[in-house]
Amino acid sequence: MAQVPWKRLGFLVAALLFVTGIAVAATISQVEIFSWWTGVGEEEGLQALIKVFQRRAPGIAITNATVAGGGGINAKAVLQSRMVGETPPDSFQVHGGAELIHSYVKTGMMEPVTSLLEQWGIRKRFNPKIMELCSYGGEIYSIPLNVHRGNVLWYNRALLSKHQIRPPDSLDSLFKACATLKKAGVIPLALGDRNKWEATHLFETLLAMTLGPARYNGLWNGTTPFDDPGLRTSLERFKQLTRYANPNHAALTWQDAIRMVYEGKAAFNVMGDWAEGYFKTLGWQPGKEFGWTALCGPGGNFMVITDTFGLPKGAPHRSGAVAWLKLIASLEGQDTFNPIKGAIPSRLDANRARYDVYLRKSMDDFARLTLTPSIAHGSAASQVFSGALDDLLGSYLADGDTDRAVKNIQLAARLYLK
Ligand code: GAL
Repeated sequence: MAQVPWKRLGFLVAALLFVTGIAVAATISQVEIFSWWTGVGEEEGLQALIKVFQRRAPGIAITNATVAGGGGINAKAVLQSRMVGETPPDSFQVHGGAELIHSYVKTGMMEPVTSLLEQWGIRKRFNPKIMELCSYGGEIYSIPLNVHRGNVLWYNRALLSKHQIRPPDSLDSLFKACATLKKAGVIPLALGDRNKWEATHLFETLLAMTLGPARYNGLWNGTTPFDDPGLRTSLERFKQLTRYANPNHAALTWQDAIRMVYEGKAAFNVMGDWAEGYFKTLGWQPGKEFGWTALCGPGGNFMVITDTFGLPKGAPHRSGAVAWLKLIASLEGQDTFNPIKGAIPSRLDANRARYDVYLRKSMDDFARLTLTPSIAHGSAASQVFSGALDDLLGSYLADGDTDRAVKNIQLAARLYLK
């Protein structure tokens, strides 16, 4: 056996120490990000984003903390207790609008990120309407990663053509299509409201459609009273439509409902365009196997939802958080995540060519239509109000008592919308 000369061995040991030293130094920084993107169709986008982060910031070890449950049903509660308990994640998913501002900004828990955006020279690159949802008192408090549209009716194209149904373009034609499908033994509407917000999602779609965008928006700035007769009409429409839903809706999630459409067990579903991401994960293409139409009144409206990330005060790894936020704000980050997630970018200079036919249409609608903030996804009203509405609509689905629902929603508005 050949002898290893001492000099060479010494050199090898030194080299090894040097390399491992670099490795230790290289992973000394960390960042913990927090979201509810664990489910099929949502996780893929996040994983792609994390990959880009690892390439751009190889020295920062990333912890992907997630709490499962669509719409953030469980994550929001965990986040709140971590924030109140002064153990915040370094950066977390939060909806732009009331959810961010009421829960975390007005309570003094967030650092503004305005100066970071200025430092990176990209403050003006974002859609100003979305930036409004992230701002308070002249400062920006979170960075919008995306824009989702909530008021979309998705359908199984093969199933509609089998029953010779044209894609509905109004509520009347939707009801007619539902009646035809029901007669033919097909479940017209897939619904999965196990986490409650899914029913609110359907209801807010009908509410904005019934009131029109100006009156709907007036509910949140006090110019439309909650005794507007449109509230009752929306509830009645909600009752009528949910009568066409699968009887086991309360046991299913939004993904289960989309799967019913995918498997041809139901024709329609009303859901935000993260459903598009899910269909694509299942292998379907927009305009080929599935179609969509916006569910809105004559003038149109865009039910807006934005997932943003911010910087809590006392973030344990602030520099890691800043590196994460830089990615969220970057074109590369936005154009990686959104085409997979089924969302459009919040930046004005994103690469349109990377987005599919549905998403390009969504970009055009977003630019031209009146935005209506979502209740179910935290933009329009505080979590106390949306939580109360979730519960009230759950009871309404069970008892169908419109008088009671109107009265209780009005009471919730008086108590919680201030
Ligand atoms: C929304 C969120 C979307 C998507 C959806 C379903 O609240 O904004 O990004 O995650 O919930 O989980």
